[in-house]
Amino acid sequence: MKRYINEKFPHLLHGGDYNPEQWIDTKEIWDEDMRLLNLANCNELTVGIFSWAMLEPQEGCYDFSFLDEILDKVYAAGGRVILATPSASRPRWMAEAYPEVLRVSENGVRDRYRVRHNHCYTSPVYRKKVQEINTKLAERYGKHPAVLAWHISNEYGGRCYCPLCEDAFRSYVKDRYEGDIDKLNHAWWANFWGHRYTSFDQVEFPGGNRESLSILGGLTLDFKRFCSHQTIDFMKAEADAVRTACPDLPITTNMMPGFEPINYREMAQVMDVASVDSYPSWHSPQHDRCPYRTAFWFDFFRTMKHRSFLLMESAPGLVNWKDFNKLKRPGMDRLGALQAVAHGSDSVQYFQWRKGRGGAEKFHGAVVDHVGCENTRIFRAVAETGKTLKAIDEVCGTAVKTRVAVIYDWENRWALENSSFFVKADKKYSFTCEEYYAPLWRRGISADIVSPHDDLTPYDLVIAPMLYMTDETTIQNLTAYVEQGGTLYATYLLGMANENDLCYLGGFPAKGLKEVFGIWNEELDTLYPEETVCVRMTDGTEYRAVDGCEIIHAKGAQVLATYESEFYAGSPALTVHSYGTGKAYYQACRDTGELWERVCGDILAELNVLPTLPEAPPHNVTAHLREDGDDQYLFVQNYSDAPIQGLPLRGEWKDMESGEKLCAVDLDAFDIRILKKLS
Ligand code: GLA
Ligand code: ZN
Repeated sequence: MKRYINEKFPHLLHGGDYNPEQWIDTKEIWDEDMRLLNLANCNELTVGIFSWAMLEPQEGCYDFSFLDEILDKVYAAGGRVILATPSASRPRWMAEAYPEVLRVSENGVRDRYRVRHNHCYTSPVYRKKVQEINTKLAERYGKHPAVLAWHISNEYGGRCYCPLCEDAFRSYVKDRYEGDIDKLNHAWWANFWGHRYTSFDQVEFPGGNRESLSILGGLTLDFKRFCSHQTIDFMKAEADAVRTACPDLPITTNMMPGFEPINYREMAQVMDVASVDSYPSWHSPQHDRCPYRTAFWFDFFRTMKHRSFLLMESAPGLVNWKDFNKLKRPGMDRLGALQAVAHGSDSVQYFQWRKGRGGAEKFHGAVVDHVGCENTRIFRAVAETGKTLKAIDEVCGTAVKTRVAVIYDWENRWALENSSFFVKADKKYSFTCEEYYAPLWRRGISADIVSPHDDLTPYDLVIAPMLYMTDETTIQNLTAYVEQGGTLYATYLLGMANENDLCYLGGFPAKGLKEVFGIWNEELDTLYPEETVCVRMTDGTEYRAVDGCEIIHAKGAQVLATYESEFYAGSPALTVHSYGTGKAYYQACRDTGELWERVCGDILAELNVLPTLPEAPPHNVTAHLREDGDDQYLFVQNYSDAPIQGLPLRGEWKDMESGEKLCAVDLDAFDIRILKKLS
């Protein structure tokens, strides 16, 4: 069953951020934009993101005329609109009249009006003002035929250290510890360095002058929880105002891959559809990591709502904010855009439609360049992508099926970042999760990226890298999963601390997990960057451990590999243990990726999780599926600069653009072909 973002427009969206207010004095440009919209094979524009100063030029005086005009124009041109609420950038008058809406930095200094994305999430004034403008917008445009969905604010993020926020933090922790200061003292292990509290009034934000964030792990963790919670609560207030006036349209907000301060999974509960802004560094020295890293996050955002998401922003050509702003090579714009669709996006949207004449983003890639016409390489590339999207429109609303999941947990990331051990400066949690996903990507096996509390029973294989923080629910969930027949692959640092970052006593990994994995993890040896330790599989193949090696003991587990150098030579580096009707693997060290690549292949073969292509494709080539009932769509992707000839396929397929029937496929450099299954 297909599931559309908006039933009234069951099509893949192609468009992006449009800032017509920058051209209000030259309205002929607006008409030109509508002409170009069609030439670019686009059908959508996202408007209103930074329009507050235009919509409410003075407090309480609204002027919607520019938006009225734009919405009608887009609709008349056959396009649709995703309409934003403008909270990401407030009008100047508001900052002057109500300084409390401005964010305070960690050093206690209140921001001046300037920039954007710098409001206080707690300020009652700001929340009220935002709710007022959102209600007006929802009432006015909720039934406009052009409007498909609400884009709430823009890239929420950052932390505010103002007195209002600090008060709210006190209430938050008081609630969390049920008004019992001793519960807080225990959770934060506050007798450490004599930090015991006698009243909730003494609670302050962590950090500041000469204080490292990590003194009380529980405090820092709760601070991060609070900042995330407060942002989500703010978004909820925004969304409530919109929903009350306009209950019918879906709500989304644009999120960022790898962004740390907000627990996006919690934020997803406020939205109907997830959106992502994606700006990979194609052709950089890290190019080879980009395809699977980007795919990991697309899979993450799809999993969050278990339905298609929107690629809300991507760069036509280049961005302007990286250290080196390299152009995407021919083909890469289309390939990068359609990669999102391969992983479940029902849109390809850009930042930005047209380059402004001034402002910080005047050199950021756009569909329409300063030259102002359709005769540019980038415009043609966008039009080409649009042509492909039209040809594959029936993919819209289809699903991505998964049999494998990777656990990625926000709170675990926060706890790891904050804890002082192992490689202190960088534990590489996100990096490691992406690396554990890589062999799946190479085989064209899409994965769900789940929370440790999610239902794991739908998956044949669950991969849990570096799951340091495991609360009771997680322990029970993992245990039940294996007991009932699941295959669980966990790595070093598993089960060391509870939800307050208090270490488990009685040996790692925590309580029941020792039984599930049949091991005891006694010590952790951290390696210097240039050091490696030899790891040998029982069949004699050798691999290299890097960064860290745990010294573990098999307590019932079968040893699959041992360390071959160092004083712990002979002790287990990889184990497997049968538990209930399932299996639990434990990898005790970080490896260069080769060990996991091999073991992952063995496990997938044993579970009969097949690669999408019959033969291992060349480096940087993969093929991912979307499906719906009997229909299957294969996205064959080449991220290398070398063309490929005669890549064999499983069965017979039809090229959705040329109609050609194929059992093998040719790809240009940086090319993607989308095929429909025939037999
Ligand atoms: C972010 C913002 C946009 C724009 C782009 C530039 O994604 O949401 O407003 O600044 O970055 O890449
Ligand atoms: Zn604040």
